[in-house]
Amino acid sequence: MNKITIQKILELKNSNKPFATLTAYDYTSAKIVDSTGIPIILVGDSAAMVMLGYENTLPITMDEMAIFVKAVSRGANNALIVADMPFMSYQTSVENALTNAGFFIKECNANAVKLEGGDNVIPQISAIVQAGIPVMGHLGLTPQSVHQMSGYKIQGKDENSAKEIIKNAIAIQNAGAFSIVLEGIPTELAKIITGKLVIPTIGIGAGQFCDGQIQVYHDILGLDNTFNPKHAKQFAKMQDNSIEAIKTYIKEVNSKKFPSEKNSTKLNPNVLKTIS
Ligand code: KIV
Repeated sequence: MNKITIQKILELKNSNKPFATLTAYDYTSAKIVDSTGIPIILVGDSAAMVMLGYENTLPITMDEMAIFVKAVSRGANNALIVADMPFMSYQTSVENALTNAGFFIKECNANAVKLEGGDNVIPQISAIVQAGIPVMGHLGLTPQSVHQMSGYKIQGKDENSAKEIIKNAIAIQNAGAFSIVLEGIPTELAKIITGKLVIPTIGIGAGQFCDGQIQVYHDILGLDNTFNPKHAKQFAKMQDNSIEAIKTYIKEVNSKKFPSEKNSTKLNPNVLKTIS
């Protein structure tokens, strides 16, 4: 086991080579992602949608997230595991934020937590960091604020909102965060923020100039053809491949090709005699 440290993540800022990170939600996908050497696995609250079928990320609970974080921590020995704090697990008070962040570290084996927001969550970020828990910030298009944003819209397109995001990014860094996700903001704004910060920026729908990128496991593997957002690229066609494989399985069962002798166990002939 060679766990990636926060120090190593900070060093990625100056490596001059953008790094890729990914979400995972269960033991098997975590094992697959971890085997590639990816430095960070985010157990995203996108689990609400891709694992539980909710319409957005708002309904997922700490209990539901805990199952995913524990499973990922059993599957990934090397990557730094970041647990995404679900809606209303940290907005309500600094105390709740601390309790819930602590739960992810103590009970679920996460190595860090992520929370969405800017100046509204600075006291929470400071308190969690002071408790010794690494924090990843998340600015721009923050899905937990979908109603306030009136939908999933690119943020920071005008002067005021761009300046606000820059100000918040610096405040998050000053509060002690070790990295920041920049989601759904213009490329140039992400480039400016990346240049101003000493901690790594990790983009999703924020262009090519961030220090790293984050994507959702299901999106890059093409596990759901009905959802193909602009910020994602399908590097495989896993839905099509899975359907093809399942159809072949059905065909082989129907034609008695599967299970073959290779997949079966023969009874000892002496035993067979006694029971037939
Ligand atoms: O929940 C999630 O998966 C995320 C990433 C896409 C940044 O927050």
